[in-house]
Amino acid sequence: MSFKIGDTITWTGKIDWELNRFHGDEYSVHRGTSYNSYLIRDEKTVLIDTVWAPFAKEFVENLKKEIDLDEIDYIIANHGEIDHSGALPELMRYIPDKPIYCTKNAVRSIKGHHHEDWNFVEVKTGDTLDIGKNKLVFVEARMLHWPDTMMTYMAGENVLFSNDAFGQHYASELMFNDLVDREELYREAMKYYANILTPFSPLVTKKIQEVIDMNIPINMICPSHGIIWRDNPLQIVETYLKWAADYQENQIVIVYDTMWNGTRKMAEAIAEGIKEADKDVTVKLFNSAKRDKNDILTEIFKSKAFLIGSPTINKGLAHSIGGLLEMMRGLGFKNKKAASFGSYGWSGEGIKLITQALKEAGIATVDDGIRELWNPDDEAKERLKAYGKNFVEAIKA
Ligand code: FEO
Repeated sequence: MSFKIGDTITWTGKIDWELNRFHGDEYSVHRGTSYNSYLIRDEKTVLIDTVWAPFAKEFVENLKKEIDLDEIDYIIANHGEIDHSGALPELMRYIPDKPIYCTKNAVRSIKGHHHEDWNFVEVKTGDTLDIGKNKLVFVEARMLHWPDTMMTYMAGENVLFSNDAFGQHYASELMFNDLVDREELYREAMKYYANILTPFSPLVTKKIQEVIDMNIPINMICPSHGIIWRDNPLQIVETYLKWAADYQENQIVIVYDTMWNGTRKMAEAIAEGIKEADKDVTVKLFNSAKRDKNDILTEIFKSKAFLIGSPTINKGLAHSIGGLLEMMRGLGFKNKKAASFGSYGWSGEGIKLITQALKEAGIATVDDGIRELWNPDDEAKERLKAYGKNFVEAIKA
């Protein structure tokens, strides 16, 4: 499959309808994804990025139907991660001497993955490549989301090939933002931002400002995953600026795991107290052992505050909570307040461990948390409701 997306640009990627896990098991994919590769036919012919390795042969066969591979003048590798460089070994079997334009760091990552010494041409921000009516301008985008990442801007038709930034794991044959379901598109774009780009938010702001300062017209943004932004493409840039500015909505999330429902009942009583104290706030509860971890992290990303609960198990935490806290440490959410809770029968270290992990993740904790022995009785539930009410006050401070 391939299709034209402009006078000179043809999409030659792969829609992966089956993908359900990405980055190993680090990212859940509910709607498939696409690996977007773009063929530019100007006076020179340019291929931007390839696809993930399992689709390498299919990609090259498809590309051959579109063009004689020898006619490709330049290959641009905006990023070395193998969901985009994975088909290079197959492609380079046919055209081993063609130059691959990429950053210095991408030479390292591509060589590291593929162990080939291809004809790399290192580029940095501001370097250009004349391809005929259009000119390619390279813009390094370190840590968005790897140190090797860059974007390629095509001056003339004014298209930004943004690689992972502005992308989504969202398979659709419709491929354009004005054709797909807007709610689905933004849900996937936010999940992608929350789970992949959050650690780099200050750099997102800086890079976007740098591009704004360049004062370049942008008619279309072509990311390396998912849907292409052609209708008011700057909408996703403006949205990224909001998400990068320590985003929050009027929402409190309560995440817990539970063995015999004690911690679940605690979560529900705390939620009741929160709702009594603040009728406007959205409160959502998630059992982390039963719900998707990346969806939960997206809900935390949207929240102004959250609570994490676990029973004490073997002087530690339930593994789903332990895993979630580790992911939160890596993501480094900002501008959120939190607290811990949990039931216990004997030693009861759970809340202390959660509070400590939250602090290590850079989250402001409002207190040392609340724990209850065994299964909460009516008296305990009243305490927990009061705790929820106090939490609403505490996060205002
Ligand atoms: Fe960072 Fe889509 O790879």
